[in-house]
Amino acid sequence: MKILITGGAGFVGSQLGKHLHSAGHDVVLLDNMSFGHLDNLLLDGAPFGRFLCKDILDPELQNYLEGVHTVFHLAGIAALPVCQENPRAAYDVNVSGVANVLEASRRAGVQRVIFSSTSAVYEKTKSERFSEDDEIRPDLVYASTKAAAERLCDAFSINYNMDIVICRFFNVYGPHQDVTRTSPPLTSYLARELVTDRSPNLFNNSDAKRDYVHSDDVVELLTRMLLDQGKFGADRFNVCSGRGYSVPELYRVFLDVSGKSMQATYNDPTSFWNKYPVLFEQGLPLSRSRVAEEVFKSAIGNPEKTRQRFGWEAKSDIREGIASVYEDAKRRLL
Ligand SMILES: NC(=O)c1ccc[n+]([C@@H]2O[C@H](COP(=O)([O-])OP(=O)(O)OC[C@H]3O[C@@H](n4cnc5c(N)ncnc54)[C@H](O)[C@@H]3O)[C@@H](O)[C@H]2O)c1
Repeated sequence: MKILITGGAGFVGSQLGKHLHSAGHDVVLLDNMSFGHLDNLLLDGAPFGRFLCKDILDPELQNYLEGVHTVFHLAGIAALPVCQENPRAAYDVNVSGVANVLEASRRAGVQRVIFSSTSAVYEKTKSERFSEDDEIRPDLVYASTKAAAERLCDAFSINYNMDIVICRFFNVYGPHQDVTRTSPPLTSYLARELVTDRSPNLFNNSDAKRDYVHSDDVVELLTRMLLDQGKFGADRFNVCSGRGYSVPELYRVFLDVSGKSMQATYNDPTSFWNKYPVLFEQGLPLSRSRVAEEVFKSAIGNPEKTRQRFGWEAKSDIREGIASVYEDAKRRLL
């Protein structure tokens, strides 16, 4: 099958692309390289598939979708504080970009669109384990863009009978996660600090847990979604392990895997986004208590609906998974 992956030079898109290419599919990776890495476009040291350095907002997008069976739409601005400090850019890419991808896919007759939403849409939902039917009321910019994009998926599915799958990714971790950005995801941050012998600055020493799912498991699920013979109508699926780890628990796994022993420093949680001064130093400042609420948020997913529909469950062991992140960070940083 011909498959186009937007965000193909990013973490999840590149891992998926390598797997589908190795399975014999004709893979096109589209990325504007705003957060992508050339290293992600290589498989065993050589380029794989076809790479298009294009933006998802390109008015000509439809032309790149000729003959494409399935679009995995994974491009987006994923870092929460980056979205928060530039809401316009976040909405341009994460909402208007989705509209452009859906409209181009419709016109090109793409058979299925698989869209990457996020567990952050549950950020204000009160539940021990989030389920797809839970009411969502996000208020930070990143989660608000993804919730708006989900509604666009509904609209295209209802009005054009388009086949659309919505994945609500929880914390995906694994090799090729970006360790270089200002605010990397926690697992990349811990790997980077330990590989470079620095003591990490952390913000949450509570028992609040987040759900971690390894990229190998995610790629397996996305492949099942690609091959599924059914029809989808913007159905939401949690992409989660159902298992949660607190920050101190995760750090202990990292210490164990790395054989290092440095103590982490736990900082004031309200200072978590201080690397983004525009949020606090211009006009009306972002509420410090909202920042702390984000830091202390628990987020565990209920994987039942996904398990029942796709016969899938996250199998990876956390220690082996963290070891894969740590070894990859060593390869990239040393
Ligand atoms: N990794 C996670 O834990 C996680 C969790 C929830 C949701 N998600 C979502 O899944 C998707 C993939 O996540 P990831 O971790 O691989 O992110 P990533 O940042 O590694 O990859 C996203 C890619 O999209 C590209 N991109 C951004 N704007 C673009 C544009 N306008 N046109 C073309 N390409 C553009 C970037 O260059 C980057 O390579 C994102 O949409 C993210 O919001 C990820």
